[in-house]
Amino acid sequence: MRVVVTGACGFIGSNLVRKLVEIAGIDVVAVDALTYAGNLRNLDGVGPRVRFVRGDVRDREAMTSVLADADAVLHLAAESHVDRSIADARPFVETNVLGTAVLLDAAREAGVRRVVLISTDEVYGSLGANGLFTEHSPLAPSSPYAASKAASDLLALAYHRTYGLPVIVTRCSNNFGPYQFPEKLIPLVTLRAIRREPIPLYGNGLNVRDWIHVEDHCRALIRVLEAGEPGAVYNISAHEERTNLQVVQAILALVGAPSTLVRFVSDRPGHDFRYALDSRKLRREVGWQPVWTFDEGLAATVRWYQENEAWWQSVLTGDYRQYVERQYGALGQGGQP
Ligand code: NAD
Ligand code: DAU
Repeated sequence: MRVVVTGACGFIGSNLVRKLVEIAGIDVVAVDALTYAGNLRNLDGVGPRVRFVRGDVRDREAMTSVLADADAVLHLAAESHVDRSIADARPFVETNVLGTAVLLDAAREAGVRRVVLISTDEVYGSLGANGLFTEHSPLAPSSPYAASKAASDLLALAYHRTYGLPVIVTRCSNNFGPYQFPEKLIPLVTLRAIRREPIPLYGNGLNVRDWIHVEDHCRALIRVLEAGEPGAVYNISAHEERTNLQVVQAILALVGAPSTLVRFVSDRPGHDFRYALDSRKLRREVGWQPVWTFDEGLAATVRWYQENEAWWQSVLTGDYRQYVERQYGALGQGGQP
């Protein structure tokens, strides 16, 4: 079986490629445009079953070429950071909306047997103190990022209804784990704690996120690929809610850094208060459940960043950018975290 993964050099994509190669008989085509968030070193050591192709999902010719002979595509390529989307929405519309439309057309033309579109709980907007989002909750995205992902989901589901394209949409909660670009809360706080730098907490720090270890997300995606129903949406969550303040305090304790590093800073505009997902449909229909608890996963993740300084130093110093630019030409949009 030949599986294409878009966004394969990003955080979740690279963890997914590692999980896919553990399965006998799967060859992976790892596609990525290598924007600021895509790191070729994230695929170090994946072995000969993985072929890397530098390609942009907005490029129809490139997508037609990578999808020829593919049995399935797992589509993760996206602009993924909410704060960046607030600063400039355009790359989010271009990659997440237009890029998805290009990929869906190429998948249709190639006759791909499964298209799994990796989406987010952010499409549902914000919850109050109680309740959970189900797959039937209305879409009410707050940020340009979330709106672009909602548009991408709806396009994919429309391609299923209109053309019969065998699309499945997954919506996952906040991921953490190895290889996450240090603009997102957990790696950012971990690296700042290790370096004893100030830690910015937005607003009062009481916003809630529903955390899942990236390996559990990837295992769920593989089960959806194997057993999901075309046209369906599946929420993915480990039901591990924490306030941002709790997450930061836990990281400081693991690193042994002082709580005086915390700075309460201006809130994110349109900041969603709480995310929490009902994932019973996924558990019932494809037989998945998480392996990691939040506390064990966080301890392992902090240890990974402590033990992999060469990885994050290369990301933070820009050596990585120079390395890729030498190998593959100029990188896409983005900059330093
Ligand atoms: P990431 O930013 O780490 O990785 C995104 C990857 O996509 C990068 O390697 C980047 O180079 C690539 N990319 C960007 N634009 C591209 C383009 N035009 N063509 C080809 N490649 C391009 O993001 P992530 O956290 O790994 O998220 C992956 C996917 O999962 C995204 O679709 C995101 O919306 C979704 N998701 C993320 C989370 C989370 O908590 N991180 C949760 C739910 C869903
Ligand atoms: O819920 C899934 C989403 O999770 C994914 O779709 C997104 O791609 C991913 O980036 C993530 O979005 P969030 O906005 O929830 O993640 P982020 O790590 O940026 O922020 C987590 C929480 O921490 C959020 O409430 C904002 C807060 N925060 C974040 C940063 C970067 C801070 O307080 N300080 C910070 O410096």
